[in-house]
Amino acid sequence: MLSSNIRILLFFLILIYSVSHVLTCDITATLTSQTYHEVFAQFTFHNNTKSPIYHFEQDGKVEKVHITGMFCNMKPTRLDVYSTSPKADTKPSGTSQAFLEGFGYVNYVLLSDGVFMGMKAGIACAAGDCGASRG
Ligand SMILES: *[C@@H]1O[C@H](CO)[C@@H](O)[C@H](O)[C@H]1NC(C)=O
Repeated sequence: MLSSNIRILLFFLILIYSVSHVLTCDITATLTSQTYHEVFAQFTFHNNTKSPIYHFEQDGKVEKVHITGMFCNMKPTRLDVYSTSPKADTKPSGTSQAFLEGFGYVNYVLLSDGVFMGMKAGIACAAGDCGASRG
């Protein structure tokens, strides 16, 4: 038998764990180039900051980006893809944008003229490019 103090402690631990899961996200995004053309990619995160510009110069190159934070689905996560090294006024050749949250994994596939969301697991995705599969 658990003493009532331990039961109360467990209750609060589970409560804190659940609440922190609802408010935060921890997403591992991988970007996979599927073109032999040069492509550049840059995230604009839910917190309005931008990632470094990732450069892909060969088919099959993979970059891994870790997205964490609180209230991740308050703002969309956007991935812009460029066919030349982007300057301030460069128009992206493709954009994938959606509200993301959860604890898991998502893959973006980069093409010479666009980007789309591929496999994902453990991520809730809404109102945007959420790939072919749901969940
Ligand atoms: C914004 O979110 C990104 C991705 O999780 C993170 O790397 C970056 O440090 C955050 N920036 C601020 C100012 O919180």
